[in-house]
Amino acid sequence: MIDYIDFSNRQNRFVTLSDVSNDYLSTIEKIAKEDPYYPSYHIAPHHGLMNDPNGLAFFRGEHHIFYQWFPLGPVHGLKHWYHVSTKDFIHFKDHGIALYPDQLYDSHGCHSGSAFVEGDKMHLFYTGNHLTEESVAIPSQVYGFLNEDQTISKENVIIEGTPAEFSNNFRDPIVFKRDKKYYMLVGGETSKNKGAIALYSGDQPNEMTYHGILQTNFKDAGYMWECPNYFEQNNCGVLIFSPQGELNKDKYQYNNVFSVVYCISDVLDVAKSKLNAYEYIELDKGFDFYAPQTYEDACGRRILIGWLGNSKSIYPTDQNMWAHMLTLPREVKIEGNRLVQQPLQELRELRAKGQDLQTNHQLTSRSFEMVIEVDQEFEIVFRNEDNETVVFSSNGEEYCLDRSKMTQVYAEEYGTKRYALRKQKEKHQIRLFIDSSSIEIFCDHGETVFTSRMFIKGMNVVCCHGVTGDLYPLNQIVKDTKPDFNI
Ligand code: FRU
Repeated sequence: MIDYIDFSNRQNRFVTLSDVSNDYLSTIEKIAKEDPYYPSYHIAPHHGLMNDPNGLAFFRGEHHIFYQWFPLGPVHGLKHWYHVSTKDFIHFKDHGIALYPDQLYDSHGCHSGSAFVEGDKMHLFYTGNHLTEESVAIPSQVYGFLNEDQTISKENVIIEGTPAEFSNNFRDPIVFKRDKKYYMLVGGETSKNKGAIALYSGDQPNEMTYHGILQTNFKDAGYMWECPNYFEQNNCGVLIFSPQGELNKDKYQYNNVFSVVYCISDVLDVAKSKLNAYEYIELDKGFDFYAPQTYEDACGRRILIGWLGNSKSIYPTDQNMWAHMLTLPREVKIEGNRLVQQPLQELRELRAKGQDLQTNHQLTSRSFEMVIEVDQEFEIVFRNEDNETVVFSSNGEEYCLDRSKMTQVYAEEYGTKRYALRKQKEKHQIRLFIDSSSIEIFCDHGETVFTSRMFIKGMNVVCCHGVTGDLYPLNQIVKDTKPDFNI
C-alpha cells in the first residue's frame, strides 16, 4: 500500500514528479487502469488529471494532441503538457511529457496553449504560470517549437505579465497568420472583471505587440474568457471561447458551471481589432464539455477536440486516481449560421460487426456506437440489473438527457437533466457514442450535441422506444508503450 498525497493541503498540488517514487506512480496507474469506468477508445491520462487539449495540429502526416496533465492525482495541480500523436485515430504513439514546469516563469504550471504549423515547423505557444511568494499568479506567454525527437524547446517569453486593462487572469494564447503577419489572441479577465480577449501582432511568431482588446457587440459574457480559438471558413470568422461567470441561463442553455460558446461573423478585422459579432451560441448541451480547440488537417477538415469534463465537479472516478478524458475528434463545419459537428470519419474503423437494435438490447460491450433513426417521440434507456439508468429522450419538441438515476449521481447542484430544443422534428439520424463512462450524442445533423460523463455500474442493456437502427460494439484504440518520464 502507498500513502496517497493529501491534496486537501493545497501546497501538495505543487509536489513534483521527482518528489514521488516510481512505486507511487505505478500503483496509481494500476488503480486507474483497473477502474471499469476507464475509457477504451477515448484519450485519458495514465493516472492523475487531464484537462484542456493543447497544441492541436496536423504536422508531418500526423495529428498531434497535447493536453494539460497533473500526474500525481485527480486534482488541478502542477500542470505539464502530455503528448500523443496518431495518423488514423485508432493507433496512437505515446510521446510522454512534452512540457515540464522547469523555468521560473512556468514554475507553477505550463498552462494551456496552441500550435501553429508553418512549413516544416510547429510553433507552440503556452502560458507559463508563476506564483510569487505572496501567491500572486504572474502569467507569461511563452514561445517554443517541436523538435524532431518530439521534445519542445522553450525559446522565449513573448509577453510577461498583462496589459494594463487586464487582471492577472490572462492566458491560453492562439496564433494565426494573415498577409505575412502573425496575430495572437489571449483570453482573460479585465481589471473590471469582464471576460475579454487581447489581440497582438508581430512580424515573427515570437515577437508580439499589443493592439488592445478585441471588440465585439456581445452583451456581457461572464468575468473571464478562457481558451479562445479562432478560424476562418467560407469567408466567415469563427470564434470559440470558454466564458466563466453567469450567462443568460434558461432551461436550454448555460446550465454547466462554465460554458463554451461560439459565434460566426465576418472575418476578424485586425486593423480595428474588431469582430463583427452580435450573439454567441452554446456549443454543447451536455454536462461535461470545456476548453475545445480546433485545427485543420491536410484534407482541409476543421477538427475539434474538447475536454470531456469540467473544473468544479468531483467525479466518482477521482478515488481511482485519474480524472477526465478528451472528447472524440469531430469535424466542424459552418452550415447556415450554425456550426455543426460530426464524429470524424476514421472512427468507423473502430466498429465491430453491427447488430440490429432490439427493444431490449443486451449489451456485449460497454463501448459501442448506435446509429439510429428516431421518431418524433423516442426514449433510449441505458440500464443495469438494479434499474439504474441514464435516459436520452424526446417529446418531439425538445431532447432531454437525464442522469438523475445513475449509480453514482454527482454534481447535483448543477442539475441532473440537460435539455435542448429539437431542430429536426421529423425522423432523422442520430449517432451516439458510449464508452465506459461517457456518452456523446450527435442530433439534428450535428447542430445539437450532448457530451457527458455517465456512471452506470455493470450497464448491461439498452431499451429503445421510437428508435430503429444498428448498434456497433467498438474496439479499443491501440496505444504504444508509455515512455519513461524524464524527471
Ligand atoms: C481551462 C484552464 C485554462 C488554463 C488551464 C490550466 O480549463 O483553466 O484557462 O490555461 O485550464 O490547466
